[in-house]
Amino acid sequence: MSIVAVIDFGSQYNLLIARRVRQLGLYAELFPYDVDAETLRSRGASALILSGSPASAVDGRYLPRPEILALGLPVLGICYGMQAVSHLLGGRVVRGTSGEYGRQRLAVIEPGGLLDGLEEPIEVWMSHGDQVVELPDGYRTLARTATCPHAAVANPARKIFLVQFHPEVSHTPQGMKVLSNFLFGLAGLCTNWSLEDFTKQSIESIRRQVGDGVAVCGVSGGVDSTVAAVLCQRALGERLHAIFVDSGLLRLGEVEWVCEKLLSLGIHVHLVEASDRFLAALAGVEDPEEKRKRIGRLFIEVFDEAAQRLGHADFLVQGTLYPDVIESQGAAGPSARIKSHHNVGGLPERMRLRLVEPLRELFKDEVREVGKGLGIPSEMLGRHPSPGPGLAVRIAGEVNKERLDLLRAADAIFMEELRQSGTYDQVWQAFTVLLPVRSVGVMGDERTYGLTVVLRAVTSVDGMTADWARLPAEVLERSANRIVNETGGVNRVLYDVTSKPPATIEWE
Ligand code: XMP
Repeated sequence: MSIVAVIDFGSQYNLLIARRVRQLGLYAELFPYDVDAETLRSRGASALILSGSPASAVDGRYLPRPEILALGLPVLGICYGMQAVSHLLGGRVVRGTSGEYGRQRLAVIEPGGLLDGLEEPIEVWMSHGDQVVELPDGYRTLARTATCPHAAVANPARKIFLVQFHPEVSHTPQGMKVLSNFLFGLAGLCTNWSLEDFTKQSIESIRRQVGDGVAVCGVSGGVDSTVAAVLCQRALGERLHAIFVDSGLLRLGEVEWVCEKLLSLGIHVHLVEASDRFLAALAGVEDPEEKRKRIGRLFIEVFDEAAQRLGHADFLVQGTLYPDVIESQGAAGPSARIKSHHNVGGLPERMRLRLVEPLRELFKDEVREVGKGLGIPSEMLGRHPSPGPGLAVRIAGEVNKERLDLLRAADAIFMEELRQSGTYDQVWQAFTVLLPVRSVGVMGDERTYGLTVVLRAVTSVDGMTADWARLPAEVLERSANRIVNETGGVNRVLYDVTSKPPATIEWE
């Protein structure tokens, strides 16, 4: 299959470029900034999009290899991508005296081509210090802004198009039109990517990879593991064993709910009841990192034992997504990645399982689409993310059965109120946290001295940054009243109004 190669210079928008291209029906993948021509040729690259970057082309440190431009493929350079190409081809780029950040208006000098069909006013999103002041030979200006004399330029004969603005972000409302003008009108590509095709091909390729073998898969009821398991079940039937570890750190009724939903999708779950072991491992532990480590280690141990009981397995199914793949390839060039890793770690060497990763080409929203096509119910696909260590990282201090039960009861009330008010689907994630802090209260004629529960609800796009959700006051009020009245043991409820950064979404 031919691919649109997005050359990654470390812009925060590089994955978004690939997603946008896929939304237009073309398969796109990221390549490191110094990728060579042979790699691109052998992967079937049919067009190049050069991303933005925190670097400066004037330094010449993170330039693309000139040989990739010599491939003769159509090129779209975005922001730094524009500056890097201009610099390489003999234009002049100057360091940021008159940078532009935010919304700007584009004045079209030469309509048609890249800017075909755009309607005035054309708002574009800018984020640059450096800019191109002299074009390489053979290039002409298509558009400018008040302070950027060359906001879009082209060398139509060579099919190289350069834009200083970011067509991929939603703040450039007609950006998709610019991308589609480039991909279809100018580069002449034809659509080759649809999620229905992906699903069919993926089931076929799982069959090919696993052959007569047997695969095991850990399920949690989360979106990724569910979609991966259903794809593998469709491909392998009885030769897929799904293992669900009940760590005792899950929400109220979660284990039963997940097993029932998976069964309705044809997946017979091997449920491993291990809550006592997890509680024992957590006894007396207060440090968040130590909790995470112990849970991670024990999880692998329990999973391993369960897999062995099921007999011989050759493959392990994992719900790795495309952003995880890119992330684990390490920081390419100038990009500064901040995200911490939450994965629980690998299985023992001796298991020697080969990996099946059916989602490794997909973005999260694509996984949901594939899931929808597979008939996975929307209440599963719309579930909030949940941390691997479960409620253990939502209890400050020591985790014990009594605290878990109290947190479960409070959490169930908050979730019910969110669902009933229709706010559950409007937030990225919501949960409760139990603090071992007592305060004085009064109920009836009695003085109480109970624990504290924190309600947390955040909006986010990818979990990397988040803002606290402006929930309706009535939802907070009803949740707080019910938690104090119905759980017994809590007499104060707080709402967390910290964003990420500086806080994280979870408390530990
Ligand atoms: P933080 O707390 O780091 O969380 O802001 C960002 C997102 O990641 C989820 N999270 C985890 N997910 N295993 C996971 O699969 C984990 O150990 C883990 N810890 C945090 C968190 O719920 C939020 O959505």
